[in-house]
Amino acid sequence: MTSLSSRPGTTFEVHPGRGAFNAAFFAVMGPYIEWNVRAHKQRLFADLPRTVVELGSGVGANMRHLAPGSTLVAVEPNAPMHRRLRAAAAADHGVDLDLRETVAEHTGLPDRSVGCVISSLVLCTVADPAAVLAEVRRILRPGGTYRFVEHVAAPAGTPTRALQRALRRPWAWTFEGCSCERDLAVPLRAAGFARVDIEPYRLHSPFVPFNTQIAGTAYA
Ligand SMILES: C[S@@+](CC[C@H](N)C(=O)[O-])C[C@H]1O[C@@H](n2cnc3c(N)ncnc32)[C@H](O)[C@@H]1O
Repeated sequence: MTSLSSRPGTTFEVHPGRGAFNAAFFAVMGPYIEWNVRAHKQRLFADLPRTVVELGSGVGANMRHLAPGSTLVAVEPNAPMHRRLRAAAAADHGVDLDLRETVAEHTGLPDRSVGCVISSLVLCTVADPAAVLAEVRRILRPGGTYRFVEHVAAPAGTPTRALQRALRRPWAWTFEGCSCERDLAVPLRAAGFARVDIEPYRLHSPFVPFNTQIAGTAYA
């Protein structure tokens, strides 16, 4: 196992076996996940600028939302994802890929240098969501946007919430630290953005712990 470390509390453990499994899983399941969330992504990612920073790009699920010829600065610490991510950029979508093998808590990008940051299904997995959101605020220039599609904890007392709790350990083990128990609207609203628009919604997939989601935009 390789540890990719930047600051204390912001490490990403690259596990060769589970990393490869997750790369294959998201390559195979990507079209199904996209089908489930496409309406939200189409709305949020409709007018992306020509240069976008993406946190946790995985194997390139969001490439299709970039115009050909765009530049994607992909912050993806998980090396087993990189081969498919590079292939998706070059062959499938004509996107110029600037791959950063680091964590979203510490992108290394300059202050106020970025117009748009996106993520999908990433704040569930990062070690420290509040640190990631502080980093997004730091790198966004005034007027810039952070656009997100994320899965979150179900309301307390619901059967979905009980299932999220029951499955938390095997789910986190399988999906490299992913938690279905995060109320991500709270750190998003606490991060100091000028404005945060959040839409909660529910999928009806067999992956029940993943069905409670939010999509929205935070404005720097
Ligand atoms: C569930 S996958 C989602 C991938 C992709 N965004 C998608 O929608 O298919 C979570 C991704 O976040 C990445 N990740 C985990 N911790 C991270 C961190 N601290 N910083 C940046 N990316 C991280 C993982 O390597 C993985 O690619």
